[in-house]
Amino acid sequence: MKQYLKLNEWSIIEEGFDPHLHENSESIFSIGNGYMGQRANFEEQYSGSSLQGSYMAGVYYPDKTRVGWWKNGYPEYFAKVLNSTNWIGIDIEINGTPLDLAKLTVKDFVRELNMKEGYLSRSFTAVLEDGKEVKVEAVRFVSIMQHEIGAIRYAVTPVNFDADLTITPYLDGDVKNKDSNYDEKFWLEVYKEAGKGTAALTVKTKKLDFHVTSVMQYDIVKNGQKLTLDPQTIEQEKYVANQVKVQAGKGEQVVIFKYVANVTSRDYGLGELLDAGREALAKAVAKGFDQLKAEQAQGWANKWKESDIVIEGDVAAQQAIRFNIFQLNQTYSGEDDRLNIGPKGFTGEKYGGSTYWDTEAYCLPFYLSTADSSIARNLLIYRYKHLEKAKENARKLGFTKGALYPMVTMNGEECHNEWEITFEEIHRNGAIAYAIYNYVNYTGDKSYLGQYGLEVLAEISRFWEERVHYVPAKDQYVMLGVTGPNEYENNVNNNWYTNRIAAWTMEYTLEVLDYLKQNEPASYSELVDKLQLQETETAKWKEIIAKMYYPVDEERGIFLQQDGFLDKELLPVKDLDPKHLPLNQNWSWDRILRSVYIKQADVLQGLYFLGDRYDLDTKKRNFDFYEPFTVHESSLSPCVHSILACELGYQEKAYEMYLRTARLDLDNYNNDTEDGLHITSMAGTWMSVVQGFGGLKVKDGVLHLNPFNPGHWKSFSFKVMFRGSRLNVNVTEKVVTITNETETPAAVNVYGNAYTVNGLSNITVNI
Ligand code: BGC
Repeated sequence: MKQYLKLNEWSIIEEGFDPHLHENSESIFSIGNGYMGQRANFEEQYSGSSLQGSYMAGVYYPDKTRVGWWKNGYPEYFAKVLNSTNWIGIDIEINGTPLDLAKLTVKDFVRELNMKEGYLSRSFTAVLEDGKEVKVEAVRFVSIMQHEIGAIRYAVTPVNFDADLTITPYLDGDVKNKDSNYDEKFWLEVYKEAGKGTAALTVKTKKLDFHVTSVMQYDIVKNGQKLTLDPQTIEQEKYVANQVKVQAGKGEQVVIFKYVANVTSRDYGLGELLDAGREALAKAVAKGFDQLKAEQAQGWANKWKESDIVIEGDVAAQQAIRFNIFQLNQTYSGEDDRLNIGPKGFTGEKYGGSTYWDTEAYCLPFYLSTADSSIARNLLIYRYKHLEKAKENARKLGFTKGALYPMVTMNGEECHNEWEITFEEIHRNGAIAYAIYNYVNYTGDKSYLGQYGLEVLAEISRFWEERVHYVPAKDQYVMLGVTGPNEYENNVNNNWYTNRIAAWTMEYTLEVLDYLKQNEPASYSELVDKLQLQETETAKWKEIIAKMYYPVDEERGIFLQQDGFLDKELLPVKDLDPKHLPLNQNWSWDRILRSVYIKQADVLQGLYFLGDRYDLDTKKRNFDFYEPFTVHESSLSPCVHSILACELGYQEKAYEMYLRTARLDLDNYNNDTEDGLHITSMAGTWMSVVQGFGGLKVKDGVLHLNPFNPGHWKSFSFKVMFRGSRLNVNVTEKVVTITNETETPAAVNVYGNAYTVNGLSNITVNI
């Protein structure tokens, strides 16, 4: 894939239109606000290849599972984030010729994603057959200040002729998902109306009864004057439009302002939807496009104040990290605890928009450090609310107690579609427990434990208790038939990571019980009652912790990924003919499964999570052993290796690993950006900078930093929100400067020494 995007610190810019890159760009230039989002489809009709995608968070479809032979335990459905009403549409005809970039010659095409102010723009000149030229300038955004609102400014100028323009702003609910299992459309029409200058459309999903109402209004302005027009209304199945004819003399610009409110039955009763949409729309229209756009810029300025990373001396790196931060903030805004982060966010259909362990294992740290703690808390509450479903899930699979959270979910039910891999990845339960620890350790918000945390921890511990079994000959507990984070081996026995995170969950649960008993006795007794927690259970957990079996290789001094790992042919990746890579595109699944190659951090994932329990030598031996076999064919992998490499002083390796994900989508390394962006691994890139190069950790309530400059940058700086203060940490080649941007003093530890950074002041430490 050629690198075709211009380097710029604050924008992603594409110059020139290449239809072959269009679907790729549709992913990259996606916009979103946590509530809704969409791929960068064109407003006007486009007959070339394109993946249309406009998504409403939390609106999904349970598409019936498609498998060869049904087996007990298969999920009934695979949830799909739904391509919903196309609300951006504005068809244009010029003297009867449709404006369609697939059919016309395109000049001076520029597409820009302005990350600083949060909008997408596009300009081009289309040349009609007879040499007539039309210039188009389009800007659109989904508001982060008024989540239900999207706004478009679409300007058309006939450059060298007088034009008759036919302009058709519309709402089209007759859309489909590319990944529909049975090639079905998922929407039914409920209501439509097309007035003069306005239109509304309500559609509902064929299953689950999600309703989405879109209400639009538009103004058309010529020579600065709003036109009074008499539009023709068009109504078709699941489609409403207005059509107007406007004459534009040579050089006269005609501007269409289209405003849309999208509201859903997730937030309103069915009878309220239309009014709610109209009300939100009226507010937006009263402000007008320029004010909405100015507010958008202000909203984004606030987000950047909390989350920006500045890299001096490397524009490509600067652009990439901002792109990642921008997309993360576009995907999840954290106000709604029913929502989560799909691995592709609002940028494509792959992974169905569902929630994976990615959220807890990779995304949580980003939101913990760059936003108010309530945002990360909502990610945890999402799982708390799914606890009953997780218990049901365990029962369905034959467990008599405990909770097994799904590997893939929308509403708490398991809905993965790849049984062989995801079914046995029970390690995800551990990441959900770990996230509770991570949140409490970072924020100090221990109230979470009594309110929500303990119940989740106890039910997960119960699951582990039943999932392990005692082997008298070993006098130990083992766990058979699992898949660890490395999906390149299935159904293995005693995956070290899974055994470790299981025992750790029980340890932490016992610690939390102890804490609550000492500090919140009333809530402790209430919870023990509610959970009907028996002493025999906690005693059993202690026994399992003491007698958990961990496969190790004494000689090498390493933990073994699983019992049979050393039976494999231990040929490092560097000795493989590069033509085999990536393995997932070149090898049969059978060959991959028995190979030594590791898709993503597995033992090392455990050493990253539980880093404070292992010394540097242990980490080094394991890193040195596993890194050479790791192919990093999950984009979630390099960040963990990068962070450990930083800790071990392998600075070049750390930087190499960082580079593998930093521009993953911008430069389309994996040849799959057209499917959507790797949103959850973007959080991993942030982790590589802040936890890796910055060495950020929280120990005993104090923020620890251990920064180094990877040497390719003049300096870098990142923001950290921590317990009421916001710090800007700047790292040059020689010094670290920590500036407290708030009035709350912050205790920090840099290179092992304790400091206090007073409010609105800074400290400098030599490297
Ligand atoms: C990874 C999983 C991850 C999933 C969704 C897979 O390729 O192996 O760990 O949860 O993608 O991002």
